[in-house]
Amino acid sequence: MDRPFAFGQTIEEILQAMKAIIVKHEKDTIDLLWENIPDVSPGPGEVLVDVYATAVNRADLLQARGLYPAPPGESPILGLEVSGQIRSTGPGVEAWVPGDRICSLALGGGYAEQVVLPQGLLIPLPGHWSYTSGAAIPEAWLTAYSNLFLEGSLAAGETVLIHAGASGVGTAAIQLACELGARVTVTAGSSEKLERCRELGASIAINYKQNDFAAAINSFTEKQGVDLILDCVGGSYLEQNLSILKPFGRLISIGLLGGTRGSLDMVALLMKSLILKGTRLRARSRESKVKITKEFRDRIWPLMVAGKIYPIIDRVFPITSANLAHQYVKDNRNIGKVILEVRTDTAG
Ligand SMILES: NC(=O)c1ccc[n+]([C@@H]2O[C@H](COP(=O)([O-])OP(=O)(O)OC[C@H]3O[C@@H](n4cnc5c(N)ncnc54)[C@H](OP(=O)(O)O)[C@@H]3O)[C@@H](O)[C@H]2O)c1
Repeated sequence: MDRPFAFGQTIEEILQAMKAIIVKHEKDTIDLLWENIPDVSPGPGEVLVDVYATAVNRADLLQARGLYPAPPGESPILGLEVSGQIRSTGPGVEAWVPGDRICSLALGGGYAEQVVLPQGLLIPLPGHWSYTSGAAIPEAWLTAYSNLFLEGSLAAGETVLIHAGASGVGTAAIQLACELGARVTVTAGSSEKLERCRELGASIAINYKQNDFAAAINSFTEKQGVDLILDCVGGSYLEQNLSILKPFGRLISIGLLGGTRGSLDMVALLMKSLILKGTRLRARSRESKVKITKEFRDRIWPLMVAGKIYPIIDRVFPITSANLAHQYVKDNRNIGKVILEVRTDTAG
């Protein structure tokens, strides 16, 4: 994206500018620059938030590479989740006032000093919570919640396999599934990651780099298999995933880290009455995101406020080091979330 206001910027425009991450492509390199862009303001049912922290998501990495453009009508600025303080409210907002501390999914635009958010997406941040913790919640936890429970219909007593168990989504999903009373199995790529998954409640943790995960699941479950798989690996795992699902099992695909193409055994699908479903939080309508947020606030948020389940944070980078933060995630180094601090949290 070209830098806005490169020439001919008026004093008024400079005064109205805020900073945001702008993606610059030069030859084969991508640079994330903290630069001035025009201010944003809230419309009806929206609030303007001073962003304290945002977080890195795989979608941001793809979008920065030009492979995952923002949906039409949404901010082209990176950033799908934020925490911060409400600065002002648009017409029709009554439940929120300036000064309220919140975290929220963002419809893009989170890598910025300010962002406009629909009021229905806001989650109140308790006074004792840091903004850093708040920014670690929306994308990972709403993804885990919606896919385990709403799409995957996970029930107490069932067994779930969570791939990339030490990821942001994985560390949330392990805790949610355990809290429900499900048996949790995971895959991850290092002993440190597997250990963290066990600490969070996984009863079986498999190093997929050293073992055939499907054989390991068969052995641990005495060939019973699992009821649900939360999969972000995709094509390369398709056949093995289907082979270890129980009758009426569900495979929920949320990512394609291992490639887009796989081999589908229709016999397995038919004979075991399996469900194979793909979902994207970002592609959901505003109404759908608001509905999921409300359910999450009603069912899960009290457990988080009570400290029974909690976001896992690997590292905090200043927003001006967004390049380093993206590289860190791209290199698969994180356990849990990688946060970008936009403002210093003087209270925390
Ligand atoms: N559909 C949706 O709505 C939605 C929303 C949010 C996130 N997601 C997806 O969910 C996944 C997790 O997101 P996140 O932000 O939590 O990720 P993350 O924290 O960046 O962690 C991803 C982890 O996946 C593992 N991994 C990477 N490449 C792999 C491969 N080829 N095979 C197996 N494992 C691999 C790595 O851990 P190891 O060291 O263990 O290999 C990596 O650290 C991503 O695919 C993301 O795109 C989907």
